[in-house]
Amino acid sequence: MFKYHAETKHSYLSVRRGGHRLDWSMQPSPYKRYPEHLPRFAFDKGDEEDIFLYHIGGINAKKSYPAVCYYLRMNPAAGALYPNELYLQIRGVEGKQDGIYHYEVASSSLTLLYGLKDGEGIEPLVGEKRAVKGYLFLVSMIPWRSAWKYRDRAFRYCLLDGGHLLGGVEMAALLKPHATRFIYDIDREALNHFFHFKEQEFFISAAVVGVPMRERYDLAVPEVILPYVDATDTFSPTPLIDRAYEESSILQKCHKNHKATHFEYEKSRLQEAIFRRRSCRAFEAQAVTKGALNYIESVLSQPVMSDCDEAVDIYIVINRVVDMPCGIRLDGAYIKYGDFSKKTGYLALEQYHLASDGALVFIMVSRGKNYQALYQKAGIIGQRLYIASEYLGLGCSGIGAYYDDKVCEFLEIDKGENMVLYMMAVGRCLQEN
Ligand SMILES: Cc1cc2nc3c(=O)[nH]c(=O)nc-3n(C[C@H](O)[C@H](O)[C@H](O)COP(=O)(O)O)c2cc1C
Repeated sequence: MFKYHAETKHSYLSVRRGGHRLDWSMQPSPYKRYPEHLPRFAFDKGDEEDIFLYHIGGINAKKSYPAVCYYLRMNPAAGALYPNELYLQIRGVEGKQDGIYHYEVASSSLTLLYGLKDGEGIEPLVGEKRAVKGYLFLVSMIPWRSAWKYRDRAFRYCLLDGGHLLGGVEMAALLKPHATRFIYDIDREALNHFFHFKEQEFFISAAVVGVPMRERYDLAVPEVILPYVDATDTFSPTPLIDRAYEESSILQKCHKNHKATHFEYEKSRLQEAIFRRRSCRAFEAQAVTKGALNYIESVLSQPVMSDCDEAVDIYIVINRVVDMPCGIRLDGAYIKYGDFSKKTGYLALEQYHLASDGALVFIMVSRGKNYQALYQKAGIIGQRLYIASEYLGLGCSGIGAYYDDKVCEFLEIDKGENMVLYMMAVGRCLQEN
């Protein structure tokens, strides 16, 4: 098991020890903004390419409280802390200048960081042999944004939230003709240097929505270093996370998955599901239909196309499904029968309103070697689950807090070998959500 994972397990004692108080004066900003003089292109609601981009990570809700407003996005994030940034290279897309851009969430726009000259591109840094016509996305993490609240466990959330963003690319791209391919074997050091990240920000993955161009082989990475921008306002070092990032940055032997994903969906309904996606804050303890479970199981069994496809087991705890017994399912079949609804609520750090009242509880587990790849895969699957639930008129919530070893005991799997990556609940949301 990856050492960092073992070091950041929650237990009954660990969550009650220590008394970590949030220092609100140190709360990091969730927005990165490049200098004003750089050209900005606001998303145009009438432009198909801009709609695609907006659906990935745009703001789609505002929550107002007496003292403060929160803006929520298409992509979920643990604690709404949004520890990831999105960058993209655009090449050969009608109506767009070829260049390297930052996705500026706060203003719903792209900031042009560098206009590509003939023969230039960042493809060599993500292992692409040919120029990519279309979009090449890069996902970074800014650990302090999440570690401010979740401390050392935050690397897990940076990877899960980053996976959700990758999944957001995949979902938005379903409205376009190209499938999404994920890349983990990227030159992190060169990319972090090229984007001038210093010690705050680190790249974790890339995604391609496009096609290789026949005529372009020998691309040169532009010889510039982009401007440094403070991405958090406040900062404290996160040494354990930085070490875990270093240790997990060199990929070990990987299985490549070339299979494209196939989802059954109706286009306008899918678009609405992406736009409406929200986390349920609590569920009604009501059953879902067998048809809903079948649809979700078929979505989750779809391949994830990537250069490092680690195995992730998805256990489904059936708390309430009409005409189906309660129990635990794996790969479409029961492995255990019984009502475990109380137990799943306890395992999720006593979040009974989510993991007991949810009709279905998903538990993702891996024994893989490539920590960044396997954890982001769990986030991609998580995003599929959010959108599939919304598509069915159901609600969903990610659950990043659980008693790691107790979950393994519950599933009767070895807690020294199996890493519990993520829990999620699906069901009927309580009305006030
Ligand atoms: C990785 C991850 C872990 C999460 N863990 C929890 C959790 O343990 N409890 C909870 O109530 N919500 C959890 N959430 C939901 C977030 O709080 C929610 O995504 C965030 O507040 C933004 O709201 P939205 O999803 O409605 O846009 C989690 C979300 C993610 C992506």
